[in-house]
Order: sequence, then C-alpha cells, then structure tokens
Amino acid sequence: MNLEYLIEKEIDEKKQGEALSIKNNLSTSKKMYLESYGCQMNFSDSEIVASILTSEGFTTTKNIEEADLVLVNTCSIREKAEQTVRNRLKEYNAIKKKQNPKMIVGVLGCMAERLKEKLLEEEKLVDIVVGPDAYRDLPDLIKQADDGRKAVNVILSKEETYAEINPVRLGGNGVTAFVSITRGCDNMCTFCVVPFTRGRERSRNPESIVNECKELLADGYKEVTLLGQNVDSYLWFGGGAKKEFNNLSNQEKSLSLNFAQLMELVAKISPKLRVRFSTSNPQDMTDDVLLVMAKYDNICNYIHLPVQSGNNRILEIMKRGYTKEEYLHRIAKIRDILPDCAISMDMISGFCTETAEEHKETLNLMDKVKFDFGYIFKYSERPNTPAQRKWKDDIPEETKQKRLAEVIDLQIKHSLIKNKETIGNEYEILIEGESKKDKNKLFGRTKQNKVVIVDKKSYKSGDFLHVIIEDCTSATLIGKVK
Ligand code: 5AD
Ligand code: SF4
Repeated sequence: MNLEYLIEKEIDEKKQGEALSIKNNLSTSKKMYLESYGCQMNFSDSEIVASILTSEGFTTTKNIEEADLVLVNTCSIREKAEQTVRNRLKEYNAIKKKQNPKMIVGVLGCMAERLKEKLLEEEKLVDIVVGPDAYRDLPDLIKQADDGRKAVNVILSKEETYAEINPVRLGGNGVTAFVSITRGCDNMCTFCVVPFTRGRERSRNPESIVNECKELLADGYKEVTLLGQNVDSYLWFGGGAKKEFNNLSNQEKSLSLNFAQLMELVAKISPKLRVRFSTSNPQDMTDDVLLVMAKYDNICNYIHLPVQSGNNRILEIMKRGYTKEEYLHRIAKIRDILPDCAISMDMISGFCTETAEEHKETLNLMDKVKFDFGYIFKYSERPNTPAQRKWKDDIPEETKQKRLAEVIDLQIKHSLIKNKETIGNEYEILIEGESKKDKNKLFGRTKQNKVVIVDKKSYKSGDFLHVIIEDCTSATLIGKVK
C-alpha cells in the first residue's frame, strides 16, 4: 500500500453516525446525520456531540435525506481538508434545496472559527456554526436555527474539557476507543492553525479519564488511546488553563499529576486493558513516560513522535523547540529504555525557504532513525498562522511535490525494512475487525501498532491472539495464529 494513500486517508476518511443505535424514550425523536473529518481528536469530539444531542432526544441516521440535522465536524489543518468539507457542504445544500428544506446544516470544529462569517453570510451554506469548545450550546443553537435565526458560538474556552460527558461511541469496532485527556495546544508551531482553532491547552480531570476507561472496559472494550495534541504536557493541578509545574502554588503542586502518572493510573485499571497514547512531543517527552511504558506490559510499545524536518534552521523557524540532535537523543533514549518500541513521525516537505540541502538533511535524519511509519505532508500555508504572516510560501509546487515523493519513497523503504525484521517473531495482536480486502481474514494490531492479517477461522473482534509473522509488505504483516 502506498503511504500517500494512507496520508490522504487521514483527511478524507469520513465516519458517519450510522453504526450508532441510540435508544431513547422519546417516540418523536429527531434525526441527526453526523460526519467527521480530520484527526482522531475530531472523531472523539463527534462522540461528545452525539452524547449531548442524544440527551436532547436525537437519534442518528445514515440517510441524509431523512435527517433533521446535518452536522459536519471539520478540519483546517491543510487547505485540502477544508476544500473537501466545502464540497460536502455544497452537496448538503443541494439536498436541502431539493428534498428537505427544513434540514438544518451545522459546521462544527476547526473551520468554525476561521470561516464563520463566510459560511453563514457570504456563501449561505450553513445555519449553525459551532467551535470545538461550544458543543454544550448546541441544543440552544439548534433551537435558534429552528426559529430561522443564524446561530453561532465559536468562543474558545480556557476550561472546557467536557470532562463528565460520557461519549457515545460512534461507528466504532467495540474494541478500541479514544479518550481525550487534553484539549487545545499552546505550542504555536509557526505552520500550525491548531492553537487558533482549538484554543489554549487544558488538561482534563484525571478522575473522569480513569472512570471513562473503566466504563469502556466494563462495556467490553480492550484498548484505549489517550488523546491530546501534546499528551506530554498533560498536567492536572485542579483545573483551568495550562501552567508550568514550577509556577504552581504549593497546594496545586500537591494535587498535581503529570502524563507519566496519569498513564500509570490508566494502566493499573486492568492488565487486560491495552493503553496507547497520541501525540507525543519531542520537546516535552520525559524519561518518566518511557519508564512507565517499560513498567507496564499493557502499555503499548509505540510512540508517534512528529519531527517535521531534519534541519536545525527549519526546526528553528518552525518554532518546534528542539534541534535535530535533541530529537535524535530522544530517539536514543526510547531505544535504550524500550528496545522493541515502534516509532512513527510526521514530516512536512517544502516549508517556507527550505533549501535542497536542508531537504537532504531530512532524508538523512530518516536514514538515521528508520521510522516504522510516517505521515508525510506537503507544506500548506494556513491563513493567519505565524508562518503565513512572516514568510512567503516560496517553494514551487513542483519542488514540494518532488521532495514529498522522495520522503514518501524513503519511508516506504524503511517501513519495509522494519516490517521484514518482524518475520519469524511472535507477537500478541488484538483483533479489531475483518480485513477490508478479504472477508475470510481478520486484522489486528501488535503493541507496536503494526497491522497483522490472519485467517478468520472462528476468531472474532476483541480476541487477543499470539501470532508468528510469516510475510509482510511495507504496510502490513501477515501472521499465522500460534
Ligand atoms: N501544512 C502541512 N502539514 C501540516 N501539519 C500541521 N500543519 C500543517 C501545514 N500547515 C502536519 C504536521 C502535524 C500534523 C498533524 O499535520 O506534520 O504534526
Ligand atoms: Fe500544531 Fe505544533 Fe500544537 Fe502539533 S504541537 S497541534 S503541530 S502547534
């Protein structure tokens, strides 16, 4: 499988609310159609939205024509993601005009703040615009829209974590679930729109995180992924916006809990509950996190550690907060403490002013690390980010494309090398579902997050199986149950 395919999948894949069967006591329930784009955080947010609206008597439908409410949870991270959503909104509008004039269309998530006026006033594509921190206001906004008023709430909060809202698991496999632990991001990487669309970083109450994981386990789930834009900066000290540990009062310090400690609490819930997390940040990741991973068998040996570039000047103007040497030091620590840990990365090709030499340094860094997997992107200028305000998006499209292809090709080569190293080894995999290509096969993941295909036989989702790897491609392993 081509890596680019996987990359595009990340932004183009949409999930609809159809798999959800919500029972409620109202006989005259309204129907919502919910579609999500973008990162795991957005999918997780949609489950909070579903929960809020279920309490209001909504049920979901996969048939847009019969929906009273159509919501699209949007992504702004690259231009292409926004374009995809805009095209969808035009399609919704066509349906609304022809078949269902009463249908209310709402935009949720990252595009809300950026495009509210445009979508509501100029293009008249939507009735409701709701930012990622305002989902509790959805019931009121829907009423306003029902009354024919344009309804907007894009206020970002320093406190909102939806801590006590129990997400309704949408279209999932009943085996793996996302659990959000922080919201927003304070890092301000110069290329990134997230700090503007999702606001200041804040951590969620650990008790509510642990309770959510316990409930998932009781409901038959076998794996949780703790989610945050930068999980390593998780810090609970009683609530509110992010603070550095050193700036906490003594009372806050006594209450405080960092990411390593939180992960330990979650790992201790049950040895039968696998624990993953995403996304790690090279500038904030501590050895403590690695030591906790080493201590608990049920914490998966997999770290997604975005690097973005292998050149120090580019890392500096991206404001990533680390040098190439510091990044490599982190990798060495991971390999030292967790010898069989898989590592993946995000990389951006063609950032402003990147020279051919600097691009080569990215390839060099990849050769040094040999990542198991990579999400590789062409730089996409985002309005009002520090990079857009400061520098021209000056790398010609053709050059960007060429560099992107080189990075992807190298990653495919490395993924294949890494996958080949697993042949003959034994792994425990957690079965997640049927293989998309072959109904007689199932797929599961190793702790290293590698997808393994096995014969179905009488196995089913949620089974833990011990497999020997017999063959592989750059994207998947082929296993035989032991
Ligand atoms: N252009 C291209 N890629 C981007 N990312 C974030 N912002 C941009 C942008 N403007 C990528 C980064 C990040 C991942 C989630 O998306 O690699 O780690
Ligand atoms: Fe964006 Fe950087 Fe925050 Fe990631 S860490 S969400 S790239 S600002």
